[in-house]
Amino acid sequence: MSVVEEKLKELEVTQKQFWNIDRYSANLLSMIIKGANYKNILEVGTSNGYSGIWLGMAARETGGKVITIEFHKCRYDVAVENFKLCNLDNIVEARQGLAIDTIIDLRKEDYNSTREQYLDFAFVDANKAQYINYFELVDKILRKGGMIAFDNMLSHKEKVQDTLDAVTNHPDYQSEMIYTEAGLLLALKIR
Ligand SMILES: C[S@@+](CC[C@H](N)C(=O)[O-])C[C@H]1O[C@@H](n2cnc3c(N)ncnc32)[C@H](O)[C@@H]1O
Repeated sequence: MSVVEEKLKELEVTQKQFWNIDRYSANLLSMIIKGANYKNILEVGTSNGYSGIWLGMAARETGGKVITIEFHKCRYDVAVENFKLCNLDNIVEARQGLAIDTIIDLRKEDYNSTREQYLDFAFVDANKAQYINYFELVDKILRKGGMIAFDNMLSHKEKVQDTLDAVTNHPDYQSEMIYTEAGLLLALKIR
């Protein structure tokens, strides 16, 4: 077993404790990134880095980069260690900070591009009450043809109802719910 697979299996033992995405969803996101050749990837909510490892492995194949945001110092430290162990520290950049502030900062940066809408893919998995803010901010930097994936759209239905309504009624997005245990909403920016 590779070092990465060993680490993923180890992290799956504590999946519920660290609120990690399930393997099925992680593999699906990885396939989407590779299939669409997405390069500029953002994750909102790192935890111990489980999904970040999947995103990083996919980005390695597309020649891309991942920025992942976590405000909790201990979880951030663990994630940084895990990315290093998986040899992904040159691909996955973990940022410790509040999600909204960090996404706003990203807008001001030249992240791999000079285009204002440079982001290819975002995985939203932090504070459910702030999903609507993440959506509005990510939309500003997401290019046409890019995708946003939102986890926990069924498990935290009440908290994310405004986001579900905003995304599914948005004329610029085509979306579909994937009926995982948590509920994964995929939204493709079509215009
Ligand atoms: C569901 S977990 C992320 C799991 C991770 N995506 C995975 O699948 O391995 C959510 C994480 O977001 C972090 N978080 C929650 N609110 C945040 C905020 N406002 N800013 C930054 N991180 C936040 C939490 O500390 C927690 O570690």
